[in-house]
Amino acid sequence: MSPTEPAPAAGLPEPAPAVSLRDVSMAFGGKTVLASVDLDIAAGSVVALLGANGAGKSTLIKILSGVHTGHGGEVRVNGSPAALQSPLAARQLGIQTVHQRIGEGIVPGLTVAENLVFEELAQARGNPFLNGRRLLAGAREIQSALDLGWSDTVLRRDVTELGISDRQLLTLARALATRPRLLVLDEPTSALSAAEAKRLFALVQRMRDDGIAVLYVSHRLGEIDALADRLVVLRDGLLTEDQARPFDWDSALRAMLAQAQEATAARPQRAGEQGEIALSLRGVPLFDGHPPQDLDIRAGEVTGVVGLLGAGKTELARGLFGAEPFPAGALELDGRPYAPRRPADAIRSGVH
Ligand SMILES: Nc1ncnc2c1ncn2[C@@H]1O[C@H](COP(=O)(O)OP(=O)(O)OP(=O)(O)O)[C@@H](O)[C@H]1O
Ligand SMILES: [Mg+2]
Repeated sequence: MSPTEPAPAAGLPEPAPAVSLRDVSMAFGGKTVLASVDLDIAAGSVVALLGANGAGKSTLIKILSGVHTGHGGEVRVNGSPAALQSPLAARQLGIQTVHQRIGEGIVPGLTVAENLVFEELAQARGNPFLNGRRLLAGAREIQSALDLGWSDTVLRRDVTELGISDRQLLTLARALATRPRLLVLDEPTSALSAAEAKRLFALVQRMRDDGIAVLYVSHRLGEIDALADRLVVLRDGLLTEDQARPFDWDSALRAMLAQAQEATAARPQRAGEQGEIALSLRGVPLFDGHPPQDLDIRAGEVTGVVGLLGAGKTELARGLFGAEPFPAGALELDGRPYAPRRPADAIRSGVH
């Protein structure tokens, strides 16, 4: 609750979460994929759902969106048990899902406007009153409410003329136009550039401020840090972590990858001599405002860098090559200061 909001009057019950899962479980062919998951998603909040591949994230989403029926436990909408026996039933209860595969949400052969008001169009099949002009007016309303920046010319185009990011925006806009209770986003930025992702974040923030509950699946920790009010972690079908801000990333990562520590402990020890330090980083954050890191890379060795999507592998490589200088810290190459501002500097210094 924001500090400007009045405290609820004493004795008033807390509002029910927009959507809750209680003891939800799911198995495929005898294999448990979700085990006794409890989760409350409050209106006006963004909950990030994290988990390694195969942890059960999509299964959970498909239960919420009415794709998987036959699960154990209960889903409640505004405190009442909900029967999510089909995608239509889920949508009618105010649960809208933007799936990861963009193609799934687009109807080729229809215009952008028709795709935007598709839900209405589908319900009004054969309704002579839903003529071209009304349809365009409806689409215009959505475009201006969400500030999509689409002219009438764009609205009249065939949807297949839109680029990938605009298609993504369209499926999101269509979901939002129904004023959902819960918006589920499955890796919504995977096909977007950084600037396009920013546009999407601004939309998600506006929706949250409007009271919509958002469940956000992403592997990109930077995005979660920027957007989420809460994060939960699934591992092997179990909810292993539930955090409010400020997030404890060490703990979240441990919860995601329980085996990671064993892997560290089991790291092969090299017998024999180590090469000279060829490149060293001291106090270098990989992202603005993130903790500084130290790293030594030795001659005669191959140093592997592993990490989740969004962990900073690309930023490390780009920084070392001068494509995008690090925000702070110091580098040394063969014992001499090294601060490439562009790739040409790196190449001149023998970094290829
Ligand atoms: N329809 C299905 N039939 C059988 N097994 C399935 C089915 N769908 C998912 N699974 C299995 O359930 C487990 C969880 O899968 P799920 O897709 O929910 O994981 P996820 O967390 O979404 O992973 P990712 O990050 O790779 O998308 C996996 O072991 C997967 O192989
Ligand atoms: Mg998945």
